[in-house]
Amino acid sequence: MNPRMESDAQAPAAPRSRRLHDLARAVLALFTGHPPEVRNRIKFVLLSPIYDVFYRLVPIDPHREIARRLPPGTRRVLDLCTGTALVPAVLAERAEMFVVGLDLSPEMLAMGRAKLTRAGRLEAALVRADAGRLPFRDGSFDAVTVSFGLHELPTAVRERAAHEAARVLRHGGTLVVADLDRPPRLGWLVDAYLRIGEPAHAREATGDGLARLLRAAGFAVEREGPRGAVPMQVLVARPGARSGAGPGL
Ligand SMILES: C[S@@+](CC[C@H](N)C(=O)[O-])C[C@H]1O[C@@H](n2cnc3c(N)ncnc32)[C@H](O)[C@@H]1O
Repeated sequence: MNPRMESDAQAPAAPRSRRLHDLARAVLALFTGHPPEVRNRIKFVLLSPIYDVFYRLVPIDPHREIARRLPPGTRRVLDLCTGTALVPAVLAERAEMFVVGLDLSPEMLAMGRAKLTRAGRLEAALVRADAGRLPFRDGSFDAVTVSFGLHELPTAVRERAAHEAARVLRHGGTLVVADLDRPPRLGWLVDAYLRIGEPAHAREATGDGLARLLRAAGFAVEREGPRGAVPMQVLVARPGARSGAGPGL
């Protein structure tokens, strides 16, 4: 396959004046909260060096949960909001897979690239782009995955990303999403985290918010809600197929 992509690996280094301009915008955004992509840059500049440690401390492994829900025969996968390439790192263990990880944050991608290189997983490609405007042709992928990414996107970008995922999936392809949700036990902890640690739009992704979003973008959705104290939902969605509700995780 040959999906058209714009890799940041080919982008020339930004001149000093451009970097100062970016920094000024970042400082402005820190005080105003806008625009969202600048706030995202600041958040993940700070988190990128320690990001992977988080998954060693929590009782969830969304990346393997996603991997085991991909149908047999899946070869070409696009991982949206890939961050430090945790999903590509798992999928690239399978020799037959061609994985593209896409993210807005160059710092998260740099951590991911270093990790994939250390592990010798050079088949996975990482691309800097917006999940709401995918630089790929229609029907380029067998599967699209998103792990803990959709709650980060502002509402309008999240809606565009859902439509874009449907567009780049081949006929009969699969979208697998894992994201934060309020579990039956210790739900108050997730509530507190959402209030303190995330922008207000992140709350739209909990409960059946993501299932509704995907259905509005033309997907049939099966959702496994959180169980026990595990703060995660998993959705398996297919453009235009039969819809249903699955058991808890
Ligand atoms: C919480 S991290 C999730 C990282 C990883 N997928 C995981 O499983 O932990 C969210 C990621 O979404 C990225 N992101 C936020 N807005 C984005 C956008 N509009 N397009 C692409 N990526 C975006 C952030 O840069 C960040 O790396």
